Amino acid sequence: MTEQRFVHAQWSSRLAFILAASGSAIGLGNIWKFPYLAGDNGGGAFVLVYLLCVVAIGIPIMIAETMLGRRGRQSPINTMRTLAGEAKASSLWRYAGWLGVIAGFMILSYYSVIAGWAMAYFFKINSALFEHIDAANSTRLFEYFKSSPEFLGIWHTLFMVATMFVVSRGVSGGLERLSRFMMPALLLVLLILDVYAMNSGGFGRGMAFLFNPDFSKLTGEGVLVALGQAFFSLGLGMGSIMVYGSYLPPDVSIARSSLLVTAADTLVALLAGIAIFPLVFANGLSPSMGPGLIFETLPIAFGQMPGGWLFGMLFFALIFFAAITSAVALIEPAVAFLSENQGMNREKACLYSGVGCWLLGLGTVFSFNIWSEVKWLGKTVYEWVDMLTAEIMLPVGGVLIAIFASWVMTRADSEAELKLHDPRHYQAWLILVRYVAPIGVALIFLDALGVI
Ligand code: PHE
Repeated sequence: MTEQRFVHAQWSSRLAFILAASGSAIGLGNIWKFPYLAGDNGGGAFVLVYLLCVVAIGIPIMIAETMLGRRGRQSPINTMRTLAGEAKASSLWRYAGWLGVIAGFMILSYYSVIAGWAMAYFFKINSALFEHIDAANSTRLFEYFKSSPEFLGIWHTLFMVATMFVVSRGVSGGLERLSRFMMPALLLVLLILDVYAMNSGGFGRGMAFLFNPDFSKLTGEGVLVALGQAFFSLGLGMGSIMVYGSYLPPDVSIARSSLLVTAADTLVALLAGIAIFPLVFANGLSPSMGPGLIFETLPIAFGQMPGGWLFGMLFFALIFFAAITSAVALIEPAVAFLSENQGMNREKACLYSGVGCWLLGLGTVFSFNIWSEVKWLGKTVYEWVDMLTAEIMLPVGGVLIAIFASWVMTRADSEAELKLHDPRHYQAWLILVRYVAPIGVALIFLDALGVI
């Protein structure tokens, strides 16, 4: 396959785009990160702010990002450059594309480590150690696992190799096939876990924690984390939806597809939260356990259910698939850039970006053990990479996309691209990307900095 064909290929259908975009959106962000951030930031109020960010900022930016992708039809950097040229705007806009390439690369470095945990748990969960395991032992097993740089390093390596293998095979082959069956299966497994959680004895407390907003528990930093999580979970602000948009046929409705993807993404996150917090309370655990949350709580459920080991394996296998379809989206902008601009073939571009990501990921591996005390301004390497990307780069990238789509690109162009039948819908979108998203993000930044 030549790069040319790759660049200009199109999705075979609207369904293929939706599947791939939800493959990118639904991942560790929904199942691993959303519950742990909600737990760390006090629950209900955080969830409410998160949902507000998804609706008022996430959806309009997803529409904008997909639209820029379909118009530009290249990697994010080249798309931004081309569209800026078209609108006679400064070529500096290409740096918005750059920001995305770097953010995706940085995110994948730790994403791969966490996905590696899911792979390891796939193999561990059927061991007799987990049979009727209690909270204390589940925590102990996780701590033990986490303390080994070798284990974590091996699983990180395996996940990275798997990702780069899929990426090197090109977009249509690798992606479409993966997301078609896995997403519905994941939804089903989560629903079964939810039913289990309903009977766990902690359901009322879990639901109250998740949905009863107590604003006294939410800090300015917590609001910023919620905003960052909205970008992270939807896969926005770094050009990956832009890459997918570039394969979208002209007659497909961008707005409708974006709404569907957002709805699916939000549903999966909430279902994961509903499965986890009842277990937390039923077993006397703390909601603010940090990144280990799902790995410490869910095994308790698997250990108690009949056939739980098998179900647990299915669960971790599905997380692996959800993670790899997101991982592919995270690195695609970098690979697309290396193959379009640096004249590398796809395999070589994959190799370079994969090795780079792997090396950076070692910093995260060590953050959970030998470097857990190596901190700068109170944060480990993992916490820095996460904070810089989710809380700064994605929101900034997203706002640049919003500004470009609404202030730089002409109205005629965006109207023609979005083809919204009802002019009020276009107007609503325009107000959201022009004013609400940039001002909202700016206010949240200032709030987190303590300026307001
Ligand atoms: N949305 C993915 C998740 O929730 C992660 C991701 C972020 C993917 C940014 C692509 C771009 O796991």
